[in-house]
Amino acid sequence: MIRLAVPADLKACVAIDAPNFNIFNREKRRDHFQVMIPQKKMVVCLRDSKILAYATFDPDWFGCTFLKLVVTDKSVRRTGMASALIQYIEDHHCLSGKFFSSTEDDNEPSKRMHEKHGFVVSGWLDNLPQPHREIFYFKALKYSIEQ
Ligand SMILES: CC(C)(COP(=O)(O)OP(=O)(O)OC[C@H]1O[C@@H](n2cnc3c(N)ncnc32)[C@H](O)[C@@H]1OP(=O)(O)O)[C@@H](O)C(=O)NCCC(=O)NCCS
Repeated sequence: MIRLAVPADLKACVAIDAPNFNIFNREKRRDHFQVMIPQKKMVVCLRDSKILAYATFDPDWFGCTFLKLVVTDKSVRRTGMASALIQYIEDHHCLSGKFFSSTEDDNEPSKRMHEKHGFVVSGWLDNLPQPHREIFYFKALKYSIEQ
């Protein structure tokens, strides 16, 4: 089941670890969730009523949707949770039909995930406070309700 995150989800989402985000650590993620949840820019994926994955997004990034963060609990990776969240954002929060995302260059699982979902590389950004460059992805959706 996928739904928008609510304030009561905060603790469960913070508990899902992502040690590869050395810059975007647990405290920063908590702060991020506290901003995104009230703005309805965060979705969670549940199985048996337990939150096992989440994603945050900006629906108005240069007029497009930008996937900011997607994380799946280690115990259930490769079971389609991130895919389900990405599909949900595509279906419900991508009115422009232009879907962007990004990931650090050394993050092979994330790069494979983006490729599987039909994203293509749309550039990169150097000089960020992280070890590797950030790779940007773009996907043109089949439908949009904007010009
Ligand atoms: C990247 C991440 C979100 C993928 O989540 P997930 O729920 O395991 O992804 P899915 O099960 O939907 O996998 C979708 C596809 O991505 C690719 N993929 C995911 N993990 C992979 C891995 N470890 N190695 C290779 N390909 C992988 C595969 O193509 C997979 O499809 P398949 O299982 O049918 O082959 C997860 O590994 C994660 O939380 N990583 C830490 C946080 C992070 O780096 N987030 C991404 C940047 S914001």
